[in-house]
Amino acid sequence: MSLTLNNVSKRFGGVVASDSVNITVPKGKITGLIGPNGAGKTTIVNMITGMLAVSDGQITVGDRDITHSFADEICRAGLARTFQNIRILPDNSVLENILIGFHRHEECSTLAAMLGLPAARRESGKIREMAIAMLRRFGMSALADFPAGGLSYGHQRKLEMMRALASEPEFMLLDEPVAGMNDVESDSLAELFRELASTGMGVLLIEHNIRFVSKLCEHVYVLDGGRLIAEGAPGVVLRDPEVMAAYIGGEHA
Ligand SMILES: Nc1ncnc2c1ncn2[C@@H]1O[C@H](COP(=O)(O)OP(=O)(O)OP(=O)(O)O)[C@@H](O)[C@H]1O
Ligand SMILES: [Mg+2]
Repeated sequence: MSLTLNNVSKRFGGVVASDSVNITVPKGKITGLIGPNGAGKTTIVNMITGMLAVSDGQITVGDRDITHSFADEICRAGLARTFQNIRILPDNSVLENILIGFHRHEECSTLAAMLGLPAARRESGKIREMAIAMLRRFGMSALADFPAGGLSYGHQRKLEMMRALASEPEFMLLDEPVAGMNDVESDSLAELFRELASTGMGVLLIEHNIRFVSKLCEHVYVLDGGRLIAEGAPGVVLRDPEVMAAYIGGEHA
């Protein structure tokens, strides 16, 4: 099963942010999406997750068409994302921020939860334990009660990832997940991404750091001006003259 974009376009007035883009994100692999600033990478993720309406084309998960689905349906279809501009609740604790992500798995009714019925309380207790286990996995147990807004950049990015993972997605879309991290932090996340893919998750990795992408991806797509200019193995794609030209003078080459 794959997440597939079939000739997907997005127009903002006169700007074509996405021009007939074809991308396949298979399960169990990390697929790279690179390109200079303004290439249209975030626009792709916003369309997949229902945050932006698609102008043309089709997006499918397996044989399910999600092109015009709402964000909550897309989440239930097994897709989760992190944001380039981190989105957390800064005044809430780290643990509370993760608990939001488990929403998809709340089995009991909202009414039962509101009335504080025993079943609802048991469910919340189970979910709390899962959130604590997640914190342990990311080495952030000591920060559970810390206000999220006071975390370092690296920790905030990890928190977003935990919240996204809490919904147990089949596909994870990561928009520059290691931006602002040092090498030690980004190496440990690279390891985690590999682990996620090895459990069968399909990962779409947007990243400016080409070396990072080359280490993790077998297949890379290159966007420039909304258009796919190359795709294939990183070693081949990065020697492509059009790709080199798109990056020339760029800070990320
Ligand atoms: N909501 C919007 N309304 C109007 N134009 C937009 C909107 N979102 C993106 N754009 C335009 O679409 C183009 C692609 O932007 P996008 O953010 O997808 O690029 P990107 O590849 O993610 O860039 P970066 O590497 O800087 O994050 C840009 O020209 C941008 O100005
Ligand atoms: Mg972007």
